[in-house]
Amino acid sequence: MTSTIILIPGAKAGIGFAASKALSCSSPSYYIMIGGSEEKLTAAMNEISALPGLKGTLSIKRLDVTDGESIKAIVDYVEQQFSHLDVLINNARVGGLNANTRESFMPCSFCTA
Ligand SMILES: NC(=O)c1ccc[n+]([C@@H]2O[C@H](COP(=O)([O-])OP(=O)(O)OC[C@H]3O[C@@H](n4cnc5c(N)ncnc54)[C@H](OP(=O)(O)O)[C@@H]3O)[C@@H](O)[C@H]2O)c1
Repeated sequence: MTSTIILIPGAKAGIGFAASKALSCSSPSYYIMIGGSEEKLTAAMNEISALPGLKGTLSIKRLDVTDGESIKAIVDYVEQQFSHLDVLINNARVGGLNANTRESFMPCSFCTA
């Protein structure tokens, strides 16, 4: 079975956590990496892994979306392990009510273009 490779930065809580739960219970072909602080994501991973409807595969990857080296490390990992990424849910640190949109978005996000 060919896996669909999915990366969700920031899945400890909120939208990223909800998306991780929903996708993990959607298809056995989904390989979902939740990115962030490994310690903080452990509880989220344990909760999702205990869901009765779990179908996909879940793993934690260290990732700080404000750190270029951290982004490069996960890009290298994905290339080596899977050679491609199917879905990026660009969740963590995107937007914010008081931010200058362009200046805050550009350094904090993956370049998807
Ligand atoms: N909720 C809304 O109504 C709404 C509306 C518009 C836009 N948004 C945007 O949608 C995104 C998710 O919203 P949310 O309400 O689910 O936010 P949230 O509950 O604050 O969750 C954000 C997630 O991102 C993680 N995170 C923060 N900084 C990070 C970094 N540098 N690297 C990797 N992960 C990081 C957080 O982990 P830690 O806690 O461990 O840092 C957390 O797991 C946000 O970017 C937000 O601005 C939300």
